[in-house]
Amino acid sequence: MKIGLVGSIHELGWEVLRSQGHSIIEVTDVSANNLKKELADVSGIVLRTAQMPNEVIDACPNLQIIARHGVGYDNVDLNYLNKKKIALGVTGTANAVSVAEHVMTFFLQLTKNIHLSDELTRKGMFQEKGNLPAFFELYQKNVLILGFGRIGQAVAKRCLGFEMNVYVYDPYVSKDTIEKMGCLSISIEDSLKLADFVSVHLPLNEETRNFINAKSFQEIKDSCVIVNTARGGIINEQDLYHALKDKKLRAAGLDVYEQEPPPSDHPLFDLSNVLLTPHNAALTLECRMRMAVEVCETVSFYLKNKEKLNLQNIINRKELGI
Ligand SMILES: NC(=O)c1ccc[n+]([C@@H]2O[C@H](COP(=O)([O-])OP(=O)(O)OC[C@H]3O[C@@H](n4cnc5c(N)ncnc54)[C@H](O)[C@@H]3O)[C@@H](O)[C@H]2O)c1
Repeated sequence: MKIGLVGSIHELGWEVLRSQGHSIIEVTDVSANNLKKELADVSGIVLRTAQMPNEVIDACPNLQIIARHGVGYDNVDLNYLNKKKIALGVTGTANAVSVAEHVMTFFLQLTKNIHLSDELTRKGMFQEKGNLPAFFELYQKNVLILGFGRIGQAVAKRCLGFEMNVYVYDPYVSKDTIEKMGCLSISIEDSLKLADFVSVHLPLNEETRNFINAKSFQEIKDSCVIVNTARGGIINEQDLYHALKDKKLRAAGLDVYEQEPPPSDHPLFDLSNVLLTPHNAALTLECRMRMAVEVCETVSFYLKNKEKLNLQNIINRKELGI
């Protein structure tokens, strides 16, 4: 069968598809017109971050599955796929560890500002270390994890390793599950005031857009560090900018933006208390290899080897009746 790769993936993924006898087309021009032309006869699509408009789906009469190289799927219209009985796959087991490590990197760098110590040492100012700005421990600090799914849980494990107090807000996960992992379940009203660190791990949808906003920043401690590796728009960026500028927050770490790539004159670029990465939390080499294999297996197994398919990776399995 013919598989379209929309965006490039690690070679290991190509090997999976070739070994299952599929032909592959890699598409790099992701404009809707080009996608319609190049994907017209594919049975499956591996999708990185490009938008997949419904008009492209309509132009692919053989299409049976779109699988995301990743876990977020806000670049496809799930309701439309359901209507057309097309499966939506994700790489559910591949990327929690890399994203969780990215969060810990943000937490550590934003509290310790290690680059300032490096700079001072290189400049021969070793004895002036007492003049460095104060830096802090994670130990016994309160961390609030918003969303206790695959990534939220991976972050919780690592925070517990640092002996932090881990609070979780996720109304869809039972208190029992949260407590069994050594964490504390908390309401959103109570949580923001006590957090020294916040890490966002929610999906982006109408319920979660602007979840953290100007009102939240009034409640959050001035010393709080907030990190978003989930999706831009869950934290309102303009409100975040004002909170950082007015020192209503210690610092923020962002891997995701309301607009990607963010505009070159984005106001956040002018602030020194924010650390920015280009939506690459899951792009460690190990994770890219795992995602490429998992997404290609999902597409291939869905099309012709269903007994090997990890059904948990098919988001709309219920709607498809599988
Ligand atoms: N930066 C990156 O490269 C990167 C990589 C992977 C995933 N992500 C993003 O990370 C986020 C989390 O991914 P995941 O794999 O952990 O997802 P997941 O589906 O396993 O977990 C999401 C959790 O959020 C909870 N949730 C949903 N709505 C909620 C609400 N209104 N309030 C509180 N909790 C709510 C759900 O119950 C679930 O437990 C997603 O937004 C995903 O797109 C980003």
